[in-house]
Amino acid sequence: METQSTEQPLLVRACRHEVLERPPIWFMRQAGRYMPEYRALREKHSFLDCCKNIDLATEISLQPYKAFGMDAVIMFCDILIPPEAMGMKLGFGDKGPYFESAIRTQADVDALSIPDPMDDMGFVMNLLSGLRRELTNDPETALIGFAGCPWTLASYMIEGGVSKNFAHLRCMMYDNPALLHQLLDKLTQTVTAYLKAQIEAGAQVVQLFDTWGGILDLAGYREFIQPYHQKIIRSLKETSQEQAPVVLYVNGSAHLLEAMAEVQPDVISVDWLTTIPEARKRLGSEMVLQGNLDPIALLTRPEVLEAMVRDLITQGGNQNYIFNVGHGLIPSTPVEHVRLAVDTVKSWNKHLATSAV
Ligand code: CP3
Repeated sequence: METQSTEQPLLVRACRHEVLERPPIWFMRQAGRYMPEYRALREKHSFLDCCKNIDLATEISLQPYKAFGMDAVIMFCDILIPPEAMGMKLGFGDKGPYFESAIRTQADVDALSIPDPMDDMGFVMNLLSGLRRELTNDPETALIGFAGCPWTLASYMIEGGVSKNFAHLRCMMYDNPALLHQLLDKLTQTVTAYLKAQIEAGAQVVQLFDTWGGILDLAGYREFIQPYHQKIIRSLKETSQEQAPVVLYVNGSAHLLEAMAEVQPDVISVDWLTTIPEARKRLGSEMVLQGNLDPIALLTRPEVLEAMVRDLITQGGNQNYIFNVGHGLIPSTPVEHVRLAVDTVKSWNKHLATSAV
């Protein structure tokens, strides 16, 4: 497992347990409103146009990589594209995403189709293959695809948009669990085919986002989330020849980490409520961990940020570790602080040398 394969991106080599010269770094939500280049494009184009127009999506995906030199490019898209392809009408307003009508009844679930990834979401695959071409001369940088997990997608579909307490979702879970399972099953089929298509199109790593997984207790996770994580991951491992590593991210996962490890993702992405040493203790030192800088650390004074980044690299080290935030970057993040964090991680050996003096 520890053979050196220099033509592989640093991120992929980290997923394969290699000992590296330094940990790879990328950020969840590394593209977006904190970047002036992104805001300039958004003045002229809607968010959904930015996702669906291949030239815009390519440019936005590459903006953080070109500005800061992260070790990965994550395709610019949104987790709610698959529900749209299943037949829902998706919009983005001031308060975030919304659907014109929500999923509440058996008839609503029955009306959802299982999309064909190429026919119904072909722009995503075209984006990925185009991005791979852009990265031909930089084989050390990885291309990341992603999907939302069934539970998180179901939360937006049942609530009709962003929610504080997920009342409709949780009522369906208690009143009619069979209907919720039918929806989760349809989403699992959709997400599995979508991720397979992304890998075929050129994604070298795929990340599963379960942003709202942490609202359930362990028993709830085992019933409504874990079986679907398991199905998706198993199916990806069975089909792809050289398996693209799968990263599993659940926000608010402190009580779920061991159960997440049972579905055997290649990487577990931890939020900032669990430290890297604690996650290692609980999951074993062989599990590759990603995370977990508090994104608010990027809003602090540069000296404070740099010290936090250094602490985290020291905890994570150069094996079985990927530097990232514990949840996405927020719009008020100063660009210079993103640069500082990337530069600090990239000069890891230097820090080791100076801290040893
Ligand atoms: O990481 C990247 O750079 C890739 C882009 C990306 C976006 N959304 C772009 C986006 C990714 C990976 C996502 C995933 C996503 N989308 C998640 C899971 C990750 C997480 O943050 O927990 C979720 C829950 C969504 C759904 C979503 N999309 C919400 C709740 C919102 C509104 C909140 C917000 O941050 O504005 C969006 C909009 C969205 N998705 C924006 C971006 C850049 C902002 C849109 C704008 O420009 O106005």
